[in-house]
Amino acid sequence: MDRRILVLGATGKLGEPVARKLLEEGFKVRVFSRNINSAREQLGDGFEYVQGDVRDLSSIESAVKDCWGIHFSLRGGFTQKEYEQVEYGGLINTINAAHNNGIKRFAYLSIAVNLENARWFFMADVKFKSEKAIINSGLPYTIFSATSFIENFPQMIRNGKALTIGKNPHQWHFISADDFAGMVSNSFKTNEAANKKFYILGPEAVTIKQGLKKYLTIAHPEIKKISTIPIRLIYFIGMITFNRELKFLARLMIFFEREREAGDPGEANRILGTPHTTIEEWAKKHINY
Ligand SMILES: NC(=O)c1ccc[n+]([C@@H]2O[C@H](COP(=O)([O-])OP(=O)(O)OC[C@H]3O[C@@H](n4cnc5c(N)ncnc54)[C@H](OP(=O)(O)O)[C@@H]3O)[C@@H](O)[C@H]2O)c1
Repeated sequence: MDRRILVLGATGKLGEPVARKLLEEGFKVRVFSRNINSAREQLGDGFEYVQGDVRDLSSIESAVKDCWGIHFSLRGGFTQKEYEQVEYGGLINTINAAHNNGIKRFAYLSIAVNLENARWFFMADVKFKSEKAIINSGLPYTIFSATSFIENFPQMIRNGKALTIGKNPHQWHFISADDFAGMVSNSFKTNEAANKKFYILGPEAVTIKQGLKKYLTIAHPEIKKISTIPIRLIYFIGMITFNRELKFLARLMIFFEREREAGDPGEANRILGTPHTTIEEWAKKHINY
C-alpha cells in the first residue's frame, strides 16, 4: 500500500493501535508528536516522525506533505480553553493544511452520542463543531463516532481497588481499540468509506459497572467489590486541590450519566468489518495492561 497516512495522536491510548495497525497493513505511517524522542521510544522503528504542535499551522503544514490521508485522534487537555485550542483550533489548522496539500481522506475520532443535545459539555460542543467543520470542508472525510473503549477499564483499578464514579445507569457497547484500529485501516482502503459518519459499537451492551465486573473476573479475580464514588466528591477534591484533571473527570462522568449511546453500527460493520472482541476476551489478552 503506497498510501502515507499522518496520524495525529499516535502516542495516545486510541491513536497508537491505529498507527500500529496501519503500519502492519502496509501503509506508510507518519507520526505527529510534540516530543518525537519519546514517541520514537514508545512506538519504535518503521514509522516516520514529525515534531510539532497542532496549534502551530506551520508544523502541521510540513507534516501533511506527501500524505494521502490523515487520522485525527487528539485529546485536548482538561479545560474548555485547552479543548478549544487543541482539538478545535488544531482541527481547523489540520483542515487548512489538508486542503493545501490535496489530502484524499480525513478521518476523525468522535463520540457516539447525540452531540447536538450534549453541547452543554464543552467536550461534546468541540466534537459537534469539529464534525461540522470537517463535513463542510469539502475534503473526503470519514467520521468515527465511537462508543466507550474497553481500554478504560484498567484505569478504574487504583491501589488494588475497583472504583467507579457516579451512577452510570446507561449501557454502552464497549469496543476494543484493536478492533477499532482495524476498522480505521479498512476505511483508508475503500472509497465506500468516503463522506461517511460511522457509528462504531462493540459486540455487547453493558453498564460501566457490569463491564468492570466482567473485566475484574478475568484480570483481577482477587478484587471482589466495586466501590462507587459520588461525582460531587470528585469535583470537590478537584476544586480544593486545584486539580484540573479531577474536575474534568467529574464533568465527564456527569456526561456519561446524562447522555446515552447513539447510532446504528450496521453500515460501519458492513463496510469496515464487525468488531467482535468481548470484554472477557480483551481481559484475557491484556492481563497485564
Ligand atoms: N476513551 C473513550 O472511550 C473515547 C471514546 C470515543 C472517543 N474518544 C476520543 O478519543 C480521542 C483520543 O483519546 P486518547 O485516550 O487516545 O487520548 P490520549 O491517550 O490522552 O492521547 C492524547 C494524544 O493527543 C496528542 N496531543 C495532545 N495535544 C497535542 C498538541 N497540542 N499537538 C499535537 N498532539 C497533541 C498527544 O500527542 P503527544 O503527547 O505525543 O504530542 C497524544 O498522542 C479523544 O478526542 C477522545 O475524546 C475517546
